[in-house]
Amino acid sequence: MAAERLSASSMACIGASAAFASSLRRASARSALHLSSFHRSSDFRSLLVVPPPLRSSRHRSFQVRPLHRCAIRASSSVPAVAAASDPAQLRGAREDIKELLRSTFCHPILVRLGWHDSGTYDKNIEEWPQRGGANGSLRFEVELKHAANAGLVNALKLINPIKEKYSGITYADLFQLASATAIEDAGGPKIPMKYGRVDVSGPEECPPEGKLPAAGPPSPAAHLRDVFYRMGLDDKEIVALSGAHTLGRSRPERSGWGKPVTKYTKDGPGAPGGQSWTVQWLKFDNSYFKDIKERKDEDLLVLPTDAVLFEDPSFKIYAEKYAEDEDAFFKDYAEAHAKLSNLGAKFDPPEGINIDDDSKSTPTPEPFVAAKYSSGEKKA
Ligand code: HEM
Repeated sequence: MAAERLSASSMACIGASAAFASSLRRASARSALHLSSFHRSSDFRSLLVVPPPLRSSRHRSFQVRPLHRCAIRASSSVPAVAAASDPAQLRGAREDIKELLRSTFCHPILVRLGWHDSGTYDKNIEEWPQRGGANGSLRFEVELKHAANAGLVNALKLINPIKEKYSGITYADLFQLASATAIEDAGGPKIPMKYGRVDVSGPEECPPEGKLPAAGPPSPAAHLRDVFYRMGLDDKEIVALSGAHTLGRSRPERSGWGKPVTKYTKDGPGAPGGQSWTVQWLKFDNSYFKDIKERKDEDLLVLPTDAVLFEDPSFKIYAEKYAEDEDAFFKDYAEAHAKLSNLGAKFDPPEGINIDDDSKSTPTPEPFVAAKYSSGEKKA
């Protein structure tokens, strides 16, 4: 039974309990009914754009249990239900993500979640979803267990309640929405996003392990080019995207990199510990480039793949520029992030969905406040 295939650790991590496990077994027994009636529906697309309270209980019970669905799909021969996201629900989810960010300061891990879903893309493979990319496959246990994804189950735990509330949104869109919202909320540039990504339907559609970059390869520049060129990205985009490390921390118990704790991480926020690349690791700015250039502070992290940005002649042009000119960094970062978020994605509708009302000028957000918690000095 699919439920039994879930390991004890993933059950614990994804918020499951003994009660959850037994309800999962019951759900599994019911699932054939749900799936077959769902699939028979001639208008299943419309079900996905009706807000949850308006759905029939049968469809709601299928939709609001994404983790049950994953387990069910693992052993089901029922084909994928391809569906795009609902614009109103995307906007609602964006507000909930902002609330989540402000209450948990989880900006960095949400950015890493979006990047690790899309960063498996291979431009040399035409077929979807074999080509990898932003298709929601990272929700499945098999991919979460890839070494590069250590710790990302925590990001999934954080945003799953939002997925459950807005069942008319795909995981692929939610991961990218969460990441772009985190960048903007941390004081970064507005990312020109579009939505409508279709989800893969089962763990058998997850990419093989080893698609994401390693932090300490023998030849960091060649390795970064191998991996990012495979995604169709160039040197400028490699350097700009690396600037996302202005946010967050590395934890030895996850990736094996970084110190267990530093003066900048001892008080959190969030779980204390790890080593950040910057002093204010919840503030999106160009300090990553300044700090890895200077390398003056032993409490700040520089991975081999960070250091090479100032060593390789082509990377260095951009790294120097971004250290000097934050506006140039923001402009290039926003473009590169949007491109990264679209890699490998199948959009429905094909042109994607814009959730920003371009006719209204967006109010300037209040200055970001979370940064003051990430400097290691508690301020009033
Ligand atoms: C250039 C190749 C890259 C390498 C080798 C790399 C490697 C790493 C490593 C080792 C960590 C620490 C993970 C942990 O221990 O929890 C990390 C964290 C992170 N990475 Fe990267 N990364 C790369 C590119 C990127 C890109 C392109 C982005 C986003 C656009 C990104 C965003 C992040 C963020 C935000 C974190 C912090 C996560 C947290 O605090 O929980 N990285 N990365």
